This record gives sequence, C-alpha cells and structure tokens, in this order.
Amino acid sequence: MDRLITPDSQPEEVIIENNLRPQRLQDYDGQERIKRNLQILLEAAKARGEPLDHILLYGPPGLGKTTLANVVANEMEVNIKTTSGPAIERPGDLAAILTNLRRGDILFVDEIHRLSRTVEEILYPAMEDFVLDVMLGQGPSARSIRLPLPRFTVVGATTRVAMLSWPLRDRFGVVYRLDYYDLETMERIVRRASSILQTPIEPAGALEVARRARGTPRVANRLLRRVRDFAQVRADGVITGTVALEALALLEVDPLGLDEIDRKVLLTIIQKFDGGPVGLDTIAAAISEEADTIMDVYEPYLLQLGFLDRTPRGRMATRHAYEHLHLIYRERPEQTSLFDVSSDDSGS
Ligand SMILES: Nc1ncnc2c1ncn2[C@@H]1O[C@H](COP(=O)(O)OP(=O)(O)OP(=O)(O)O)[C@@H](O)[C@H]1O
Ligand SMILES: [Mg+2]
Repeated sequence: MDRLITPDSQPEEVIIENNLRPQRLQDYDGQERIKRNLQILLEAAKARGEPLDHILLYGPPGLGKTTLANVVANEMEVNIKTTSGPAIERPGDLAAILTNLRRGDILFVDEIHRLSRTVEEILYPAMEDFVLDVMLGQGPSARSIRLPLPRFTVVGATTRVAMLSWPLRDRFGVVYRLDYYDLETMERIVRRASSILQTPIEPAGALEVARRARGTPRVANRLLRRVRDFAQVRADGVITGTVALEALALLEVDPLGLDEIDRKVLLTIIQKFDGGPVGLDTIAAAISEEADTIMDVYEPYLLQLGFLDRTPRGRMATRHAYEHLHLIYRERPEQTSLFDVSSDDSGS
C-alpha cells in the first residue's frame, strides 16, 4: 500500500495539491486563532505601507504551513520566493537570493531548521538590519563590507521547532503553531476539495473521509482522491457514506485514521517492549522506519490521541492505545520502582 500520510513529491500529487490549495485567507479554513492574529498583522502592515514582520510557522506535516505562506503573499500582494533549508547549501546561495529580493517580498524558507550554521549567520543580519555582510579578498588584506538589502519578510516553516537555534528563533517577530483541525472543519475541507475535483459527495461520505483524515488537510485530500477512484470504479461516481466506508476499509485506514505504520509503532511498543518505555531509535529499528519520520509524522498524532506518552526514558503506550487495538492493558506499578532511578518516592 502506498503512503497516505508521509509527504510525497510525485508530480501528479504536486499539481493536485496546488489546485486544492486555498489562495486567500477567507478560503483558508480553520486555524482561527492564527487567522485572527494574522488579519491584524496584515492590516496594520498595509496601513503603514510597511513590509510584514518575519513569521515562523510550525506544526506537523500537511496542516497548511506552505499554503499559509502563499496566502500571506497573496493578501499582501507581494512576490513570494520559495526555498528550503537543505536547498541553500552555501552562504553564497543565500546571498544570491537576498540580493534579488524587492521591498516587501516574502522569502519562504521551508524546513528552516535544516539551514546550516554558516548560512544562518548570513541570515541573522539580513533579518535584523536588512544588510548583507560580504567578505572581499583573502588573507591579511581581506575586509568585509555591508550591503543594504530591501526590507523583506522571511516566512519560515518547520515541523521541528525545537531544532531551531535560539538566535534564529529570536529573529521572528511572530510565531504561529498550527494545530490539527477539528472534525467540522475537516468536513468542510473535504467538501470544498470534492467540489474542486468535481466529485459529488454526500454529507455522510464527507464525514467518513473527514473522520479518518487525522485532522490533516493533506491526508483528507489524499483519502478523498482514493475514495473518488473507488466511487468511479465500483459505484456510480457519487461518494455516499457506504461508498466511503467500503473504500476506506479497502485502504486499511481505521476509524481514527491510523494506518499500518501507526499500528506497527504501537504494537511494537506493546508486544516487543511490554508497553515501554522504549527509545525512538529502537522502535524505528524494529519496524525499519526512519526515526525522523516517526517523530515528525506519526508520533504527533499518536500523542494527540493520547495513545503515546513521551517519558524521559522513552515512549510508552497508554491504556487508550491498548483499548483501541483490543489488547488487554495491565497496570505495571512495579516498573516505577524497578527502573525509575530519579527516586521519586511520591509513590504511584
Ligand atoms: N486551511 C486549509 N483549508 C483547506 N485546505 C488546506 C488548508 N491547509 C492545507 N490545506 C490543503 O492541504 C494541503 C497540504 O498543505 P501544506 O502543503 O500547506 O502543508 P504543510 O504544513 O506545508 O506540510 P509540510 O510540513 O509537509 O510542508 C494543501 O495542498 C491544501 O490543499
Ligand atoms: Mg509545506
């Protein structure tokens, strides 16, 4: 089965994602708290005729960081230049990008936690004072000159805010954390996407897709496309509740939207490591997945569901996880005394 959850860069996928991407703030559903704040920020900047403050967006994949960066550019009616942490290899690469910006432009830096130190050091003065420090010559005769840059806005996005260095984090005037979407919003997002894809969907069908989309628009879009295929091949093209249920059963997405990898993570902790605690790398090795993928993509949702606990000694499966997987949970008070060396004698 191909992946429904991890990022994907198949050309067809990218085209469809771009089609489904809301362009303006009013089409960007959910994230109400962010939108309220952003609205004020946008209006104030426009009224003063000034570029926006630098904005950092963080949160799990597929929640709409890239989309929001583009929405901000559209609302400000400025150009957006998109790059990413790993794409900027040398300081010179960043210098070239910066010197090509115009006043007010947005520089969108995806995966900003992956910028190298040397590149970051160019970015600090650029963000703070809008200058570029350039070294001329080499050896004893070397000197540095400062070139002025136009006032521009960095919009940074990351799934790993903790990996950002403090100096970089500090240079963002605004920091927004994107949250998983609630069910009602997901239903609206599914309906909007179906109408763009010109696929008839009944409310019950939209609800089934929304429920399994783990609060993530990208997952909703993917599930919807698969369900649409099923509806075309096995039914008359309309996504009814029954059609959606059958299609989703075939995709092996369970009622909470957990897929095979989520289940593997939980079952590994429960069955191989007696419920944990067990380190992330050990889990990753046991199921042959990248530890980073588990941490960025799978774990946040399992934590959100309350199926997983992060403890200083590793990950633990909770009672809810056992119950969801129809496994018997037993309390293990003995573990506290056996393994906990922090001598917490509050006793539990
Ligand atoms: N608020 C929203 N309303 C409707 N659709 C949305 C919304 N946010 C995101 N989407 C849809 O979800 C898709 C994925 O969003 P996006 O690419 O912006 O996520 P991301 O946070 O940048 O993910 P990643 O961390 O993987 O880069 C978009 O193509 C868009 O169709
Ligand atoms: Mg993105």
